[in-house]
Amino acid sequence: MTPDLMEAGAERAARAKGMHHAGGSTESGGRSADFGRIATPGEVDVTHGRILYLEDVSVSFDGFKAINKLSLDIAPGELRCIIGPNGAGKTTMMDIITGKTRPDEGTVFFGSTIDLLRHREADIAQLGIGRKFQKPTVFEHLTVFENLELALKTNKGVRASMLFRLDSAQSDRLAEVLHTIHLSDSVSRLAGNLSHGQKQWLEIGMLLMQEPDLLLVDEPVAGMTDAETERTAELLRHIAQTRSVIVVEHDMEFVRALGVKVTVLHEGSVLSEGSLEKVQADQKVIEVYLGR
Ligand SMILES: Nc1ncnc2c1ncn2[C@@H]1O[C@H](COP(=O)(O)OP(=O)(O)O)[C@@H](O)[C@H]1O
Ligand SMILES: [Mg+2]
Repeated sequence: MTPDLMEAGAERAARAKGMHHAGGSTESGGRSADFGRIATPGEVDVTHGRILYLEDVSVSFDGFKAINKLSLDIAPGELRCIIGPNGAGKTTMMDIITGKTRPDEGTVFFGSTIDLLRHREADIAQLGIGRKFQKPTVFEHLTVFENLELALKTNKGVRASMLFRLDSAQSDRLAEVLHTIHLSDSVSRLAGNLSHGQKQWLEIGMLLMQEPDLLLVDEPVAGMTDAETERTAELLRHIAQTRSVIVVEHDMEFVRALGVKVTVLHEGSVLSEGSLEKVQADQKVIEVYLGR
């Protein structure tokens, strides 16, 4: 075993232990036993047909209810689009899923065994939930290749990073990701010289290198050209063939191109859900959102 793998193994073991303690006064011994097991990435339990489950989640900021009894169910391999007016709570919902914001009440599960409210933000990323923020955050002075390679090194110790070499499975994955994000011909270009759209794709690629089971993407096509927007819809559909994706977006052409189930958020709760045609015909949606 390489020192890398040993260190990764030790980290995982430590995390598993930490979670046991964090579990503290669990409701049942059975659940506590699950916590040790789920620390290994790629083991999210979707036997009950959902990868993400929110029920009656609420959070207030200074008395203002940003999220109000929100419930949401995402299936394994589903690509779901979330729309809604500014301030509807879309980003806050992602903050709650990723552990950045703690809800005041409600249930948030990743698969059927992982209670996300018991985990910290860094742990949640390790468990297999990747998040793409609105602004691209690639390393501009590094090449496309180096950015993708770096995505594998994060959360490792300095020593492990110095010893880091791509193994053949990782090289294969990097090539596959390059192809997915349409940057195979740009491996040695500096990320700083890419177009805005390409930077967004590169950042999505960096997340894919970590093989998340669920990817959250916040307003990816803002500032993109029409051609880039179309390609991004294709890209997310491709990604959703092997993992689940939740994408928040305002751009209706993009939402139409995705062609998937849409959830309309309004004042922190689900206002309407279904195909784009269905929600666009919903009188409640027309009043609060599309009609304005
Ligand atoms: N950390 C915070 N502190 C105070 N208010 C917040 C915070 N985060 C979000 N809000 C408020 O919660 C509401 C929902 O915001 P947000 O989730 O960003 O909406 P969306 O992404 O749908 O535009 C807004 O009114 C926003 O001002
Ligand atoms: Mg937002």
